[in-house]
Amino acid sequence: MRKMLELAELRSGELLYDLGSGDGRIIIMAAKEFGAHAVGIELREDLVQFTRKKIEELGLLDRVKVIHGDLMQADIHDADVVTLYLTTTANEKVAPKLERELRPGVRIVSFCFRMPGWEPAKTMNLETRTLYLYTLPPVKVR
Ligand SMILES: C[S@@+](CC[C@H](N)C(=O)[O-])C[C@H]1O[C@@H](n2cnc3c(N)ncnc32)[C@H](O)[C@@H]1O
Repeated sequence: MRKMLELAELRSGELLYDLGSGDGRIIIMAAKEFGAHAVGIELREDLVQFTRKKIEELGLLDRVKVIHGDLMQADIHDADVVTLYLTTTANEKVAPKLERELRPGVRIVSFCFRMPGWEPAKTMNLETRTLYLYTLPPVKVR
């Protein structure tokens, strides 16, 4: 998780979206350790409730929020950094949205799964997994 945020070079004051935010660990770390603002989008109501409770307990309500909904419908136009831990298929589906809605220079980090058809700007090999960093506009591969 921390490596994902380091690879993205997340800076204080920037805005991160975690698409499919699970239990909220990335958005919470982004705010606590990197001083960023962070928004999670999560389909599962139980995980959203869990994350909201955690955000409140940690006193991060001014900088972190989680939206209950489908990441494909989320408004992410103001992102500086986007994190993904989905699947190759989900990455393929979300790629056109990222290209359409995000401005040039936005950094995208995907845990484990590549963005099909995009050339990573950097990769980081962990013990058993790889992180992929992309910068918009993406470099396309055939
Ligand atoms: C592997 S978990 C990653 C959680 C978190 N990003 C992390 O790295 O710890 C993927 C999450 O994406 C959520 N998810 C899958 N499809 C989604 C969708 N279309 N919209 C919102 N959330 C989705 C799942 O419910 C799950 O919590």
